[in-house]
Amino acid sequence: MDLEKLGLHGKSILRLLDLTDEQMLGLVSLAAELKARKKSGANLKDALLYRKNIALIFQKSSTRTHCATVCGVHDEGGYTEYLNAHDLHFGKKESVKDSARVLGRMFDGIMFRGFSQKVVEDLATYSGIPVWNGLTDEWHPSQVLADFLTIQEHLGALKGLKMAYVGDGRNNVASSLMVGCAKAGMDFVDVCPPELSPSEEILDLARECAKRNGCSIQVSHDPVEGVRGANILYTDVWVSMGEEALFQQRLALLRPFQINMDMVRNTGNLESGRVIFLHCLPAFHDANTEVSRDYGAMEVTDEVFEAPFSKVFDEAENRLHTIKAMIVASLA
Ligand code: CP
Ligand code: NVA
Repeated sequence: MDLEKLGLHGKSILRLLDLTDEQMLGLVSLAAELKARKKSGANLKDALLYRKNIALIFQKSSTRTHCATVCGVHDEGGYTEYLNAHDLHFGKKESVKDSARVLGRMFDGIMFRGFSQKVVEDLATYSGIPVWNGLTDEWHPSQVLADFLTIQEHLGALKGLKMAYVGDGRNNVASSLMVGCAKAGMDFVDVCPPELSPSEEILDLARECAKRNGCSIQVSHDPVEGVRGANILYTDVWVSMGEEALFQQRLALLRPFQINMDMVRNTGNLESGRVIFLHCLPAFHDANTEVSRDYGAMEVTDEVFEAPFSKVFDEAENRLHTIKAMIVASLA
């Protein structure tokens, strides 16, 4: 991959909307190259992030994004420092602007996970170093890159495929997938109850990208018709981090939108093997967690989650390669 041509050197990656279509797809290709590079051991001889210092500022919990950043940077010879909400003065005793200016004098880049998109934008503006969005209330761009790498690996391409995202149609993952599919030339259907529909503003932004790439962005409130023809069935938790008070309300709204075997059959693509199941994870697919103990499976049944067409752990591994690609693109 010609990193110069990718044009992301020194840049932050905060929303897919800020990338050109070529840059977004280029990051997926770079991730595929870095994945092969790691498997061949080439990174041990010629590290791309040698001695780079990366701060991880995480105001919310994370397994994949945290570990993918740490392992991705260490794979390429860099160093990471994990800072949670209690470790920094950030936004409490010190303004985001001042903390950003201090961190920018010490680190080479920052992976941020938090609540407000404005904070990650300010961090990028005032630190003067590349900042990568590891999830905010509004967007989760790094997730989509991993999803696209996984789709390419299992279905051979992106353009021309159809994704049905089923569930909370207005959360960070839904919005990011909608924009990502529009930029990749994939048809996208947001299958959700009317109360959880995406905003007109995000629909308009995505449809603008879809128009130039010859694909469609739709919203459906019908969990049967909405998934017809889908090659990718995607879901996320019904209650995102920070929205815990809405738990009972979400259960009531989203029960009819659970991904189960009937829904997979309704795609019409099960027999031909042209459908896969994806989930950004963590998932409530059984009663094995503290939260799902009293409810059992929520957004997806255990049968679907554990089926051969479920590629959720390939997808989770690909968080490593795609986050590494973002950091390499900005710093190498
Ligand atoms: N999918 C995802 O972002 O997982 P984590 O919350 O574990 O980072
Ligand atoms: N929508 C979820 C994604 C978790 C990776 C959340 O924000 O909690």
